[in-house]
Amino acid sequence: MEKIGRTAVLLLVVSLCMILYVHKGSENNGPKSQKVLPPTASSAGRVEEQQPLAPYLNGRGHVCNVLDYGARATGEDFDTHALQRAIDDCATGDGGLVYVPPGDYLTATLYLRSNIVLYIEQNATIYGSPNQSDYPAEYSRWYVILADSVENVEITGGGTVDGQAEKFVVRYDTRKNIMVSWNQTGDCKGDECRPRLLGFIDSRNIRVKDVFLHQPAYWCLHTVRCNHVVVEGVKIFGDFNIPNNDGIDIQDTNNTRIVNCRIDTGDDAICPKTISGPLFNLTVSDSWIRTKSSAVKFGSDSRHDFHHLRFERLTIVDSHRGLALQLRDEGSISDVVFSDIVLSTRYYDPSWWGGAEPIYITACPRGPSTLVGSISDIQFINIVGTSENGVFLSGSPHSILRRINLQNVTLSFVAAGRSDITESYHDYRPGCQGLVSHNSSGIFVEYAKDVSFEDVTVNWASNLDWDTPFEFTPKSVGRISLSNVVSATFSSDFPFLTEKSGVASI
Ligand SMILES: *[C@@H]1O[C@H](CO)[C@@H](O)[C@H](O)[C@H]1NC(C)=O
Ligand SMILES: *[C@@H]1O[C@H](CO)[C@@H](O)[C@H](O)[C@H]1NC(C)=O
Ligand SMILES: *[C@@H]1O[C@H](CO)[C@@H](O)[C@H](O)[C@H]1NC(C)=O
Ligand SMILES: *[C@@H]1O[C@H](CO)[C@@H](O)[C@H](O)[C@H]1NC(C)=O
Ligand SMILES: *[C@@H]1O[C@H](CO)[C@@H](O)[C@H](O)[C@H]1NC(C)=O
Ligand SMILES: *[C@@H]1O[C@H](CO)[C@@H](O)[C@H](O)[C@H]1NC(C)=O
Ligand SMILES: *[C@@H]1O[C@H](CO)[C@@H](O)[C@H](O)[C@H]1NC(C)=O
Repeated sequence: MEKIGRTAVLLLVVSLCMILYVHKGSENNGPKSQKVLPPTASSAGRVEEQQPLAPYLNGRGHVCNVLDYGARATGEDFDTHALQRAIDDCATGDGGLVYVPPGDYLTATLYLRSNIVLYIEQNATIYGSPNQSDYPAEYSRWYVILADSVENVEITGGGTVDGQAEKFVVRYDTRKNIMVSWNQTGDCKGDECRPRLLGFIDSRNIRVKDVFLHQPAYWCLHTVRCNHVVVEGVKIFGDFNIPNNDGIDIQDTNNTRIVNCRIDTGDDAICPKTISGPLFNLTVSDSWIRTKSSAVKFGSDSRHDFHHLRFERLTIVDSHRGLALQLRDEGSISDVVFSDIVLSTRYYDPSWWGGAEPIYITACPRGPSTLVGSISDIQFINIVGTSENGVFLSGSPHSILRRINLQNVTLSFVAAGRSDITESYHDYRPGCQGLVSHNSSGIFVEYAKDVSFEDVTVNWASNLDWDTPFEFTPKSVGRISLSNVVSATFSSDFPFLTEKSGVASI
């Protein structure tokens, strides 16, 4: 009771200070940033005013309120210039905190600078423009918010960045919407030309924390050649019928930590990829995922190595594919551990990649004249799942999978009752053999060496029309070891995970 009362008083004081502060700002002609003083015990009001923001400043820098720079926060007039001036001004000297108070802000691409915190307050939303003219000419820089070649940048505050994906829909379709494609200038070709939401390119010491990323028109959070990235407490929502709205794409980036996130999107949720350089040290933990594609997907861009990746304590709900490695180019994937994961996978529609596989590994050359690297030392430990398809582990004559280990894995297979899928197939897309008609099996293995299954249980629903527990091609598989592998049936419908299931909910 007393605690609630104190919180309310604190909030009131903070709000009053904000109002006074805004008022003070508007008395001045033109923008002005304010030096933040370190809290002192002798001025109680001052301490409380600084409390919400001071920790983000690390004791240095300015607070730049975007309203002082002329932002109107109507959601209809563009606030691009005000927001950009606040960012640029705040980045001078020691850097500082760009404060975005509650309100709606429509903007063209914003460019972050080094040493700033973009603090988007609760009830503040930054909307990306739906018009191509509001983005840079180069497709590679189409983001609502872009940090290029900067360091020490944080986006936080509890507010929202919204890509307005629905404004890019040409035709709604419950399977997959048809979207606008900005391909007329020729800088981007094909049907995937839409802006991403947040981009970090050639940058270091990045943190995105406690913000809501809503309706990206294309990929949501993308890092390219960065080092030291933290994504924490971020909630991502992308419409289930909007294509390519990936959750987090980590590309050519080292030392990334993704923790306590909630990702609910149509396309791949967490997608490590390599195009211009390798990817080392990615940890994803304590997060909740639902997607109409893969919850975790390596590739398919895989031109450089992926090494030392950890996926821990994840809850994956009703996804089209669970844990997936899709190697198609010259890079290699090694030292990956998936542990303590609860998942359910189901079929949706073949227009989305995935076929309800809980665990899926493929390594094959993208095309007849291209090379492919190798996959080795991949562990799946303490995994419990319910799925409408089996595990698929498939190397190729060009790339033999090595040292794949499933340990303490329990999978329950149920009939596909919630989609129109009637035929089962092995899915080698993209490239390779494409879709190949093939009945499902509990665990399918081809082109692999040193594969071990320890304490693996497969449970079969009695109404399943497929029931081959274990299938492998002896001429392409060497040294399989099975220890305590159990197969059993059950009669009742197995409960699927629901929206409420989860180790992390924010
Ligand atoms: C945000 O809006 C909610 C609901 O109107 C309100 O309870 C909350 O105090 C607001 N928060 C801020 C920081 O304005
Ligand atoms: C986008 O462009 C169209 C056509 O040029 C214009 O009517 C519309 O107002 C623009 N929308 C925004 C949000 O700027
Ligand atoms: C541009 O995008 C449209 C819509 O997706 C597509 O039909 C068309 O083929 C694309 N054109 C080019 C040149 O990529
Ligand atoms: C990541 O680390 C690798 C190995 O040290 C290095 O080659 C690569 O340049 C690093 N990438 C970045 C973006 O720092
Ligand atoms: C990966 O992490 C390890 C352990 O923290 C560290 O020693 C190594 O330098 C990191 N690799 C890169 C490329 O940063
Ligand atoms: C096996 O996995 C289950 C479910 O994740 C877990 O509860 C159990 O502790 C694990 N057993 C061991 C020996 O780690
Ligand atoms: C799948 O199984 C059914 C029933 O056992 C069988 O008739 C059919 O030939 C199989 N299909 C393939 C592609 O193996």
